[in-house]
Amino acid sequence: METYKANEKRYGDMVYRRCGRSGILLPAISLGLWHNFGSVDVFNHFIQIAHTAFDNGITHFDLANNYGPVYGSAEENFGRILKKGLGHYRDELIISSKAGYDMWPGPYGNWGSRKYLMASLDQSLKRMGLDYVDIFYSHRPDPETPIEETMGALADIVRQGKALYVGISNYDDAQTKAALAVLKEHQVRCLIHQPKYSMFERWVEPKLLPLLKEEGVGLIAFSPLAQGLLTNRYLNGIPEDSRAAKSTGFLQRSQVTDEIVANVRKLNDIAVNRGQTLAEMALAWLLKDDRVTSVLIGASSVGQLLDNLKALEKLDFTADELAAIESIIK
Ligand SMILES: NC(=O)c1ccc[n+]([C@@H]2O[C@H](COP(=O)([O-])OP(=O)(O)OC[C@H]3O[C@@H](n4cnc5c(N)ncnc54)[C@H](OP(=O)(O)O)[C@@H]3O)[C@@H](O)[C@H]2O)c1
Repeated sequence: METYKANEKRYGDMVYRRCGRSGILLPAISLGLWHNFGSVDVFNHFIQIAHTAFDNGITHFDLANNYGPVYGSAEENFGRILKKGLGHYRDELIISSKAGYDMWPGPYGNWGSRKYLMASLDQSLKRMGLDYVDIFYSHRPDPETPIEETMGALADIVRQGKALYVGISNYDDAQTKAALAVLKEHQVRCLIHQPKYSMFERWVEPKLLPLLKEEGVGLIAFSPLAQGLLTNRYLNGIPEDSRAAKSTGFLQRSQVTDEIVANVRKLNDIAVNRGQTLAEMALAWLLKDDRVTSVLIGASSVGQLLDNLKALEKLDFTADELAAIESIIK
């Protein structure tokens, strides 16, 4: 493969949104490497997905220490993609990583200790061949480790220059408040919160969204397509190459119930009437709220990615459309 050269018109169509009260603009659609970029996947396939993303203005790539499988392989593969040309554009990229889930054996390879976070980020940097990441996250709250320790480690990571910004993921309302308070004491801002948020998963709406707005923290919604349920993927059964058919255990066949598929069909009809695919409408539905900085999608093909990008062509909804959607997902 020749060295990658980015599309000169890559900034033509993407929408960028300010991430809370910060200097950072994120693309409204960001790409996550949780699935499809591991050592079990095909390099020549996923490098095309990464290039197509950047060629269309997706400047933000989201990783974590354990993305794969195997653990660490998505970061290694992203490092290879950077070396093959994308890294030439390092100053145009926002690259994130995280630590918080199971990574290596023994008591120091999981959760939220300073020991784990510091060691894990060093490993991630090595795997990706980077001097720094743009955002480093505490991947989940740790009920056993004092929040002062976890947030203190994030603050020191920023001071060390190994991350430019920090974020938190999967923290509930109270845990978020506590984390922000400690970061404030360290005079380090929390740039962003990364919760699960989609038409099918709305826990952030009552308290977290208003809290983040008030605190000037951005929100990036992960699994905005409910891992593929909110697309046309499962309208006619479970395709063999789909996430639900694979044995990763994250989306199981048993989760594709008749009841869910019936609701997905109804949502699909609304999307068709809007002139969109269901995936496009599901992303637009999140992005209609300007407190949502970005939606963090996954894609197993270039076609899916291009479909998802089209969401940006129609972000507005009529009151009737919103009411019809609400009656299905409430
Ligand atoms: N912080 C956390 O704890 C956490 C947890 C989970 C995810 N994340 C982040 O969020 C990112 C996205 O998560 P996700 O992969 O679950 O997101 P998602 O966008 O909800 O689901 C992606 C899957 O949906 C299907 N899909 C995507 N676009 C489609 C389209 N246009 N038409 C039909 N099917 C489509 C594909 O499934 P098939 O593979 O079946 O084709 C794809 O792999 C991750 O990569 C990661 O960066 C973070």
